[in-house]
Amino acid sequence: MKDMLWGSATAAYQCEGAWNEDGKGASIWDEFCHSDKNETGITGDISCDFYHHYKEDIRMMAECGQNTFRFSISWSRIIPKEDGVVNEAGLAFYDNILDECEKYGIIPNVTLIHYDLPDYIGAKGGWCYPGVADAFAYYCKVCFEHFGNRIPLYVTINEPNHNAYCNYCVGNYPPNETNLQHYARCCYNMACCTAKAIREFRKLHLTSKIGFVQGCGPATSLLDTPEYRQAVKYCNYFCRDPFLDPAILGYYNPEMLEEIQKKGIDLSFMKQEDLDIMKENTIDFLGQNIYSRMLVKPNTSGITAFVVNNKGNNDGTGNTRRESRAISGWFEFDRDPNTVLNKWGREIYPQCAYTTLMETSRRYHNIEIYVTENGHGMYETCDENGYVEDDERIEFLSNYLYWILKAKEDGANVKGYYVWSTMDLYSWINGYKKRYGLVHVDYEDKQLKRTPKKSYYWYQEFIKNHS
Ligand code: NOJ
Repeated sequence: MKDMLWGSATAAYQCEGAWNEDGKGASIWDEFCHSDKNETGITGDISCDFYHHYKEDIRMMAECGQNTFRFSISWSRIIPKEDGVVNEAGLAFYDNILDECEKYGIIPNVTLIHYDLPDYIGAKGGWCYPGVADAFAYYCKVCFEHFGNRIPLYVTINEPNHNAYCNYCVGNYPPNETNLQHYARCCYNMACCTAKAIREFRKLHLTSKIGFVQGCGPATSLLDTPEYRQAVKYCNYFCRDPFLDPAILGYYNPEMLEEIQKKGIDLSFMKQEDLDIMKENTIDFLGQNIYSRMLVKPNTSGITAFVVNNKGNNDGTGNTRRESRAISGWFEFDRDPNTVLNKWGREIYPQCAYTTLMETSRRYHNIEIYVTENGHGMYETCDENGYVEDDERIEFLSNYLYWILKAKEDGANVKGYYVWSTMDLYSWINGYKKRYGLVHVDYEDKQLKRTPKKSYYWYQEFIKNHS
């Protein structure tokens, strides 16, 4: 494989559409979007219809010079029902995508689950269902046996940290709960999912590699005092260590487990047999998504609260209220007055790419890393031809890339980079107005016309100069 892969990324529910075509079962996102809980009524039912446009989309990637494509497989397209029967049409769809990738020499980097659990698992308790890891391992086995080495890079779960956080802390993703006990259970079950899937993967002796994707970097702080260092440690106990430690090192930090129990969380669901499987089945590479910084300070408010900025601001006005999270006695988010925020209140701080990659490399024995997502959400307008001049995105990407390449130069084992996203797609509860794509999609047009943005041409040039 090349020393550095350049590509872009999507996820099944966000781009495929065809939510009930060719035998696909429902996922928890289909269920949520079609329910009263979905306040906007916006769904991924059609989205940019990658299901029927994949040839065009992959051709455009190739024309841009991209040599890798990160996408996810929809579990409920492969195993639509609880009976475990495999849907051949589901496998055929992803075979077709792999054919297209092969045609252009594009290396697939494939995530086995990107938030969209089958609805039948959701009905049993979703990520908290004790049987979720066995069900996931079965589904992964079907994929490994069928796709084998055609997929050189497999990812078990996308952003378990962010997924668990939205599902069980903020409650803005299904099952829409605010319950720290369930958060802990979900995190543990996700670690079991990864380990049990890897156990199946290793049995086949494929030449492919397997990893998982982390959604945020390590915590950091503006001050370096014992109290601030403690807050950083606690934030890592919340967002990083429960995911990266078992997946890379094969064990949990006992001090972290003790601190979690002191917070009143019951960890009796942890089983020795699972821990043994984790120990034996660690990942080959880490996918690291890079957007912004986890900047924290000591929690002085005594409040536990989780705030996101994605309600009521889909009107193009944006706002500057910062995303925040706080755990009483542990940490709370801090605000650096010298940095700017995007319209969703997320800090834009390109240097975080460097710190994330360097610190992760140091803590995790210089593990192979792919920057599996980096991108900038914007409200956009296009001209009459559908062309978007997204200079702001170009500035964002080039600044982050500067720090990513510097980390690589300074020894981080970075092997690939993916812009989020390949084309405009459904942005979860932010719907369609928040756009990330290198390619504009006209949702008003019946053909869902695709038009490369200015950033697409910029990326084409960038790849040319860095290959
Ligand atoms: C992370 C997620 O993996 C992806 O699904 C999401 O749309 C992007 N970040 C942008 O927020």
